[in-house]
Amino acid sequence: MGKQKILVIGAGGQLGSELTQGLWRLHGKENVVATDIKDAEGILAEGNFEILDVLKRDAFTSFIQKNKFTQVYHLAAVLSATGEKNPGFAWHLNMDGLLYVLDAAVEYKIEKVYWPSSIAAFGPTTPKQNTPQDTVMDPTTVYGISKQAGERWCQWYHEKHGVDVRSLRYPGLIGYKTKPGGGTTDYAVDIFFQALSEKKYECFLKPDTYLPMMYMDDAVKATLDLMEAPAEKIHVRSSYNISAMSFCPEEISAEIKKHIPDFNITYKADFRQAIADSWPRSIDDSRARADWGWQHRFGLPEMAADILKNLPEYLAAY
Ligand code: SER
Repeated sequence: MGKQKILVIGAGGQLGSELTQGLWRLHGKENVVATDIKDAEGILAEGNFEILDVLKRDAFTSFIQKNKFTQVYHLAAVLSATGEKNPGFAWHLNMDGLLYVLDAAVEYKIEKVYWPSSIAAFGPTTPKQNTPQDTVMDPTTVYGISKQAGERWCQWYHEKHGVDVRSLRYPGLIGYKTKPGGGTTDYAVDIFFQALSEKKYECFLKPDTYLPMMYMDDAVKATLDLMEAPAEKIHVRSSYNISAMSFCPEEISAEIKKHIPDFNITYKADFRQAIADSWPRSIDDSRARADWGWQHRFGLPEMAADILKNLPEYLAAY
């Protein structure tokens, strides 16, 4: 593998902003071009940044052609809760965006493509505990349907066109460097902001709603580990199950109370409860562990301690 030139699409989002920094560390800031439909905020402004809308196909394709990228990380998507409010646009962005990227990968011989799938690709009749890699998938949200279809397209482009596209089915991702982005698992992000500023949080899920989750540091590591693994170790070309921990609102609240004793959580479930209830409670990610050596670092106590230690300073700086 020679020198890499890397494009990140949707770099301003929750995952994108931290993954871009991971790519800076791995490949050098000068070799990474972060893009989004809106201007760079915070730390992203310190690297190469361009405005780019993947849905403006002609402009997007000429941007790829002009820059001769070797790798593309395509992260732009509408998440589960927001997608239910605007299903047509969610489908357009999540599906057409991916197809434009995969077509460009064929045409301009991009060496590697990364695209995230999600636990949302599973549904109510999927086994909920230790959800296997290969199982029933009957997603109920537009977001989930787009992820399931996207997985099939990734496999198809790999088999028919030899595209080296790689993917992870992320659980809920928890970071503190950007505000939550319209997902059902995002209560576990918002709760930290509210705990620090208000010492209370009203949760839109019930206290015992278990969901698979992962700290952002681990998500960046998983993504870069997968992308750096030799191609012959990648045996799943749809998307790998990946996980680190599972917890419910009651448990994360108890963990926060260890640091902020007068923190108080209340519950008022809304439409997102049905989405959460359709998803796995825990994930079997043994294929990722066996194929390319996935290992997580953060459980709930380590994650909560790290966020509550760093978030006040981060809020003051940005
Ligand atoms: N975090 C996403 C969501 O809640 C799931 O992939 O929409």
